[in-house]
Amino acid sequence: MTIYHNKTILIVDDDRISIKLAEFVLLKDGYSVVTVESGEACIDYLKNRGGIDLVLLDIEMPRLNGIETLEKIRAEKSIADTRVFFLTGNEFSRYEDVARRLNVLDFISKPVYGPEMLERVNKAFADAETDSRDTILVVDDDRMNLKLAEHMLSSTYNVILAQDYQETLNSLSMERPSLVLLDVHMPGMNGFELLSEIRKMKACSDLPVVFLTADSDRETEVRVFREGALDYIQKPFVPEVVLERIKRILSLRKLQVNLESEVERRTAELEESRRKHEILSLQVVKTLASAIDAKDRYTNGHSSRVAKYSKEIALRAGKSIEYQDEIYFVALLHDIGKIGIPDNILNKSSKLTDEEYETIKQHPSIGVDILKNITEMPNIEIGAHFHHERFDGKGYPEGLSGCEIPEIARIIAVADAYDAMSSRRSYRAALPQSAVREEIVKGRGHQFDPTFADVMLKMIDDDVRYEMRDDGLTL
Ligand SMILES: [Fe+2]
Repeated sequence: MTIYHNKTILIVDDDRISIKLAEFVLLKDGYSVVTVESGEACIDYLKNRGGIDLVLLDIEMPRLNGIETLEKIRAEKSIADTRVFFLTGNEFSRYEDVARRLNVLDFISKPVYGPEMLERVNKAFADAETDSRDTILVVDDDRMNLKLAEHMLSSTYNVILAQDYQETLNSLSMERPSLVLLDVHMPGMNGFELLSEIRKMKACSDLPVVFLTADSDRETEVRVFREGALDYIQKPFVPEVVLERIKRILSLRKLQVNLESEVERRTAELEESRRKHEILSLQVVKTLASAIDAKDRYTNGHSSRVAKYSKEIALRAGKSIEYQDEIYFVALLHDIGKIGIPDNILNKSSKLTDEEYETIKQHPSIGVDILKNITEMPNIEIGAHFHHERFDGKGYPEGLSGCEIPEIARIIAVADAYDAMSSRRSYRAALPQSAVREEIVKGRGHQFDPTFADVMLKMIDDDVRYEMRDDGLTL
């Protein structure tokens, strides 16, 4: 019987005599033993100390009994896989259902009888070892060869034998082995043909295969690799060589799989971190936009509405998702320069003097100054800089015309004008939709790029109930 010296068993029992008895037997048999006297202490130990290979858990305990303790263990992700035996002075049958539900491996009766407990514990570890072994499928039409391979491999691996292609495909449809050893020469379907059948099975398209062959000619050797096998083993077998080759192939394969899953894990982490940064950037920009809007009491929510209209125009104009996202950001900040305009001018309800109007007109340049340090988004200042340019060249601050004005700013200019006219102000009601439409038509080709003015007109016409302005447009 194998002794599992490296295994640690946690005994959980409120009865100290029972603990001492079980501990004595397990220590004598070479196990390491840890003991606690309550369900709470058991959970605490598993969560904070760990390193336990098996828990012997008494069912009848005060406060948290064994069943409640195990329910909590199974519900706690980090320790949910703990291997557990129930200890009980009662009939096992009373607890069979709950044991099945909570994935209990076995029962041990109290008072503990040493040989029976050891037999069950040893068997649990032996089963676990078998479960974690690699499985090798050996395919050969020669029964003697199969027996030989089984004899060679079974002390280290789980071995499945198949004598022809039908047995091979049947066994692969039930279980995916870690490796297939495949004879080249077989009657009916040879090894190469069988491999191509195996590759057609979805779960086996990358299954590691090693050919077994008595041929030593160069042609077979080349074909083995060309057909996608990892290696070949020469018959008659030299057991030491076969075992060493298989060991190497499997450990290389594990490294490869680990590497792939590590790459996947890191990629997912990076993607998550990129997504978080994106959300953070958007939140920061939205906060800035709210700060702009809070400063100008007449235009509450203006920046976010202009951002939504701009994105909708871009969408309808057939721009890419990336473009739509970019214009949304840029438009949110188009009026950021207003932060630098004195409140008494910005919020003045009577007519502005020429001098005050000139001050207001500085907000695009102030916006550029504020945004110039955001180097990661080079276009971020385009909206702030150019949204008051006009298509006919009569705008400010640069007096650009037509396509000299960056396209994003031409779109924002239409969205900005629409919102200025369609939103309620504390000193006036919103203009009627027909009046807004008329102004856009008048500005088409003069104030606005005709292409985007047309898109806005279509948006107005689609908005039969004039709802778009009241956050009817959800983006
Ligand atoms: Fe503006």
